[in-house]
Amino acid sequence: MVCTCVEAMLEFVLEEKFTARCKDRRSKRLDVVGTRRGGCGSCVALVSKYDPNLKNVEDFSVSLCPTLLCSLNGCSVTTSEGLGNTRDGFLSIHERFASFHASQCGFCTPGMCMSFFSALVNADKGNKSDPQPGFSKLTSSEAEKAIAGNLCRCTGYRSIADACKYFAADIDIEDLGFNSFWKKGDSNEVKVSKFPPYDPTMNFTTYPEFLKS
Ligand code: FES
Repeated sequence: MVCTCVEAMLEFVLEEKFTARCKDRRSKRLDVVGTRRGGCGSCVALVSKYDPNLKNVEDFSVSLCPTLLCSLNGCSVTTSEGLGNTRDGFLSIHERFASFHASQCGFCTPGMCMSFFSALVNADKGNKSDPQPGFSKLTSSEAEKAIAGNLCRCTGYRSIADACKYFAADIDIEDLGFNSFWKKGDSNEVKVSKFPPYDPTMNFTTYPEFLKS
């Protein structure tokens, strides 16, 4: 779904902005905005695969642009739209990205959300001790590294990193930048109470039971 979406956005941007400049060089034009090689991370989705020997589901982030469809046989693919959307409501990842102004043109946002979601899912599966309610098992440096493979052309990295670090167990809220959750002067308790709750049980995978047989 993301792939189709990115393709559509690419076509739109290319038609609007680049047609006049390079009318007859279609393949080159595609390289101008998207990489089609998984280089920018806008097409990242969560791929889930069942291991029948270990009887568990493995989740990992994958750039879909260069991924062959046949390599996803038996896998389940979850996109940003699959996690949250205008019809069913958004997850706290989307809400935090929005409130930290971490989405400007929005081109990179679905991929950023899915790279980060994959890190959250895998951190919560780990053996680390449970953090205080509302926070994940990621550290702030792990939260930043989770989106290291995603490029933002609008270069709003500070706000993107803040939206991700806001899930970290060791975050100092004073380190976070401008956002629309709280006002200047609010106490720490007020600040913590304002953010959209993080619930580890939201880390569902959409791996369907019938694929396990
Ligand atoms: Fe524009 Fe990241 S918000 S590319």
